[in-house]
Amino acid sequence: MLFAYGRVVTGKYFYDRTKMRSDIKKLIDGGQSFMLKAPRRYGKTSLIKQLLQNDNKTYFYTDFRKVPRLELFNKQLLEYAYSLMGIEGAIKQLLENAFTFLNSHRATVSVAVGIFEASVELFASNKSEEDKFVAILKLLDQISQEKNETIYIVFDEFQDVIKMSKDADIMELLRGEIQHHENICYMFAGSNMTMMTKVFENKKAPFYNFCRKKTLEPFDKEELGKEVVKAFKEKKIVFENDLIIKDLIERCGGHPANTMLVLQSIENHMEDEDIKMITKEIIDSCYKDARFEMNDLVVEYLKEIGNKEHLHDVIFRDANKQEHVLSASSLQQKRKALVDMGHLQKIDRGEYVIIDNFLRDELIEENKI
Ligand SMILES: Nc1ncnc2c1ncn2[C@@H]1O[C@H](COP(=O)(O)OP(=O)(O)OP(=O)(O)O)[C@@H](O)[C@H]1O
Ligand SMILES: [Mg+2]
Repeated sequence: MLFAYGRVVTGKYFYDRTKMRSDIKKLIDGGQSFMLKAPRRYGKTSLIKQLLQNDNKTYFYTDFRKVPRLELFNKQLLEYAYSLMGIEGAIKQLLENAFTFLNSHRATVSVAVGIFEASVELFASNKSEEDKFVAILKLLDQISQEKNETIYIVFDEFQDVIKMSKDADIMELLRGEIQHHENICYMFAGSNMTMMTKVFENKKAPFYNFCRKKTLEPFDKEELGKEVVKAFKEKKIVFENDLIIKDLIERCGGHPANTMLVLQSIENHMEDEDIKMITKEIIDSCYKDARFEMNDLVVEYLKEIGNKEHLHDVIFRDANKQEHVLSASSLQQKRKALVDMGHLQKIDRGEYVIIDNFLRDELIEENKI
């Protein structure tokens, strides 16, 4: 298999992104915290994991979309803190018997015994989860200082962190504590573009000016084109001419997941038919298959868009390059809503593109009916 779809991609499945890889690598190497925002399925998680794994870095990773409660998060983070102290499976041992845990690791733990003892005390205490959260972050800072090592922490889908606590502003708590951490590289990724902008770029926001800010753009069409040709060559498969691969990448709009889906479908087709020349007909047919596979998602998008007044009209006109009929302020408001929903991306003043090429295709087709 040359192309992977759906899961986080690293290693030989990772394409493109040379410039971004080099930019982010510099930040990671320098222990510089950063945020990375991009629409859904654009490759945020893959990019960060690829770089950390390439460098053989150990890191803590959590996806806030998947962590429903602060209590659970605290356990994960504490487990990681213990692994840095040289103890594996700590939480299970702690739950069984904190006293035994303390005694069996006191002599071998890789940080000052005082820090270790305080952490066990914290675990057993009946402090609120919010207080524990701050204390565990503090603990990580102490460990990084003790060991004089950078600690790498990835907070994925960071905009969802607020859902973890109803009692406190978790972002404020987090910012309040981690702003003092000199040896920890925090990486915040998120796909809710508006929320991420609000949290990191709004002057009144908790993370304003806290770290570097990066946006993951669509695939670089030229770079990807070359890599795709090379990858197929490994299997002695060639394109009939340069134009058809350029055209395909253009049609996918640089959308990473959709591009990979079409490429994988082409690869499978070539294998099934045992042929070596990719023609325009093959590309068209595989693109159609991929589009069909994503149809349910596109239908869902359209339903979501249709539920709010004028949104369909705005995105429909954008897709079909038609003049808008709404007033300037109304249009701006509707476009903002579409940006919030992850359907439109602003590329310049007053210039927007539809993020998902299959949604765009569907809207263009509607115009033909
Ligand atoms: N650099 C890349 N090379 C090849 N494929 C990629 C790359 N980046 C993304 N993809 C494709 O996009 C899919 C989604 O990637 P990933 O999960 O990293 O994105 P994400 O932005 O974190 O998505 P989500 O918002 O759903 O968490 C991958 O399964 C892969 O098919
Ligand atoms: Mg992700």
